[in-house]
Amino acid sequence: MWLGTQRVNARGHLEIGGCDALELAERFGTPLYVLDEDALRRRCREYRAAFETLKPDTEIVYAGKAALNRALCQIIADEGLGLDVASGGELYTALQADFPRERIHLHGVYKTETELQMALQADIGAIVIDNFEEIRRLHALAHTPTPIMLRVAPEVDAETHPLIRTGQRDSKFGFHWLNGDAYRAVESVLQTPTLMLRGFHCHIGSQISDLSAFVSAATAMVEFADTVRQRFGYIAPLLNIGGGLAVRYTPDDQPPSVQAYAQTLIGALREACEQYRYPEPALGVEPGRSLIAEAGVTLYRIGAVKQVPHEQPNLPRKYLIVDGGVSDNPRPQMYGARYTARHATRAAEPHTCTYRIMGKHCETDPIIDCAYLPETHTGDVIAVLTTGAYAYSMSSNYNRYPRPAMVAVRGGEARVIVARETYDDVLRMDR
Ligand code: LLP
Repeated sequence: MWLGTQRVNARGHLEIGGCDALELAERFGTPLYVLDEDALRRRCREYRAAFETLKPDTEIVYAGKAALNRALCQIIADEGLGLDVASGGELYTALQADFPRERIHLHGVYKTETELQMALQADIGAIVIDNFEEIRRLHALAHTPTPIMLRVAPEVDAETHPLIRTGQRDSKFGFHWLNGDAYRAVESVLQTPTLMLRGFHCHIGSQISDLSAFVSAATAMVEFADTVRQRFGYIAPLLNIGGGLAVRYTPDDQPPSVQAYAQTLIGALREACEQYRYPEPALGVEPGRSLIAEAGVTLYRIGAVKQVPHEQPNLPRKYLIVDGGVSDNPRPQMYGARYTARHATRAAEPHTCTYRIMGKHCETDPIIDCAYLPETHTGDVIAVLTTGAYAYSMSSNYNRYPRPAMVAVRGGEARVIVARETYDDVLRMDR
């Protein structure tokens, strides 16, 4: 699995963005998040090409919860994408980075008055309303016409980890359709002159490989929009189907290509519009993981190699203990997420050994249960691949570890885009 610009250089080391991974580890320290900027930019362009050739009125909105900081805002803005922010903090980051405001969408299942005020003051592209309380809150706060969308639970049960499934019947997200809430929400919004309804939104979940789930979502949304038209005469100019496309964490993962995703989704939208004789709306998609996950790796240094006496079935007996773990990537612990490791020093050597890679925290924090690597020693540097999404953004200071730095690499140059935290940063809020 070679992702983005990863390759073996003349010294036999892993190279990313033209930078030697071992040198990056020495210069910036470990753990280190490395962002392959060209890989991210290429993926943005691939998304735009795939959707815009087939449907020029597609809005591609990067889901910033996957990873967000000022530099990322600039890259995403530069590539012409929109930005989905899911909290006041993400919105604040976008505004501080001068992200084009009309391309920002605010999400969330509970937007506070402060967050709504921020969005109103910044005059962003859309607030995606999730529940009746938000309609009331916005009605009270908005004094000028405010673009909004309504999030609908489309009743699609996508196949993925239960904790990242969001569009099913029993879900906390959006207005439910079967109990009539979604219609009551439309009615209420259409009667509120300050709320300008741009269309409907749904998001069925994350790390989804089966394209038929997206077909079901698009079809359900057109069916919903059609019923709304019949009841209220409102025609939606935009349907946003959310994000969710899967990526490669291990060689076993075979996610569909962005082209296949675009073709299938646009095909489903068009077919449903034909079936319901519904005027074809603009399409919105909100990829997070599938834009950035494969552009990220985490470099760790091995602090200890341990042989345990007892072998668990199918698991290696040798442990590698690295200098990070659950605080820089909680996904293996939270979702049983699987990853692939690559040796940074002996990147070209055959993978003859199996190891369990563990973090250094005060609990069992696996990073990879069964990693194939060349023989590995204390002091070696390894790269865990596909950590660009939901690793830094879900990191913590557990055990009072400072968060690692993030470095963007491109054309042989490395720049720090997020500094490494210090012990004083960890103490900064203590009183
Ligand atoms: N739009 C909305 C409204 C979302 O809630 C999400 C993700 C996305 C778009 C982007 O989905 P993506 O393309 O990244 O699959 N922490 C979990 C993932 C949570 C996803 C939350 N919502 C993980 O590490 O797997």
